[in-house]
Amino acid sequence: MKKVLVTGGAGFIGSNYVHYHSEKYPEDKLYVLDKLTYAGNLPNIQTLVDAGKVVFVKGDIADLEFVQELFKAEKFDTVINFAAETHVDRSIIDPGIFVETNIVGTHNLLLASRENNVSRYHQVSTDEVYGDLGDSGEGFFTEDTPLAPNPPYAAAKASADLLVRSYYETYKFPVTISRCSNNYGPYQFPEKLVPFFFKLANEGKPLPVYGDGKNVRDWLYVVDHCKAIDLVVQSKNYGEVYNIGGHNEKSNIEIAHLILKFLGQDETLITFVEDRKAHDRRYAIDPTKIGKDLGWQPGVKFEDGIKMTFEWYKNNQAWVDEIKNRVLVGDEKTGRQPNG
Ligand code: NAD
Ligand code: TYD
Repeated sequence: MKKVLVTGGAGFIGSNYVHYHSEKYPEDKLYVLDKLTYAGNLPNIQTLVDAGKVVFVKGDIADLEFVQELFKAEKFDTVINFAAETHVDRSIIDPGIFVETNIVGTHNLLLASRENNVSRYHQVSTDEVYGDLGDSGEGFFTEDTPLAPNPPYAAAKASADLLVRSYYETYKFPVTISRCSNNYGPYQFPEKLVPFFFKLANEGKPLPVYGDGKNVRDWLYVVDHCKAIDLVVQSKNYGEVYNIGGHNEKSNIEIAHLILKFLGQDETLITFVEDRKAHDRRYAIDPTKIGKDLGWQPGVKFEDGIKMTFEWYKNNQAWVDEIKNRVLVGDEKTGRQPNG
């Protein structure tokens, strides 16, 4: 039995991970630490909390005193850090909270982990730390690609990665880092491309495609990401970085067309709007290392995963309405009008 702390476990990927871990390792004692920001949603893991399989703790990783007290009291074996501010558009409008949570918060977790002899720390990072592959359609991010983050979200995640790395280099602290491409799947907050466009299209509203819509992202089903994180955490490859991705490059306009086709909606809903600032053109992951070292392969084909995801959003409109109306109505930070 291990005591495993999952931070950010009420968000999109964290909650999928908590379900995965709880099923695979029922003997572990799982804790979720989450601030429940606009993106956090306790109902995502409520069944596990009610069943006594997860202990939920509401709190802020940027609050050092609180983090230290929790670690001292609970003596975790493993810490997996998903907690972050994650939306690029928000980071352009209000970068400060990204520094607080993604950088200071990560360092607080490292500090408390080391003080309390945590035997394993894993940092969930992103391919966005590598910057932009540009327009040529060639090349992939490897673990040796230099960090060159563009928007504040990516810069804050890259800064956190460097702190995690420093704990290995300086103290030989048992850390790992994984950098995944864009995820899709159930429980994603409907400000991100797939659930946001799905909701709008379902309501017959225009889909705001930034720029020319030809920016490319490399899409991975969220459960495949969770399986990869588990393999990295189980390994003893301390100090290593693993890229995670399934070679599923799609342009934003392709994603928009898939959603419209699934919902039987008209393509005239596609509306080109002003481009995002520092809008990276293309991300694409080379996952060779995690395949070779840990035997990871994506299990879900894009065509199947995206269909499952669309079905989930179609069948869970109440979840989408609740979480989105809770936040975006009169949302001053994004400046967005209600529902888009
Ligand atoms: P999310 O925004 O859906 O969830 C983030 C969670 O962190 C929320 O539950 C939120 O309440 C919590 N949180 C935020 N600030 C906190 C704080 N100060 N203290 C405690 N909890 C806090 O994000 P996600 O998409 O699930 O991403 C999870 C992680 O995976 C992030 O670290 C992100 O950088 C990384 N990642 C995401 C993607 C993607 O496509 N979504 C891809 C690669 C990596
Ligand atoms: P997003 O889901 O915000 O993820 P990320 O920026 O972390 O990759 O955006 C995915 C892509 O979709 C990105 O190229 C920006 C684009 N996009 C739009 O064109 N319109 C939108 O309303 C949103 C939210 C994103």
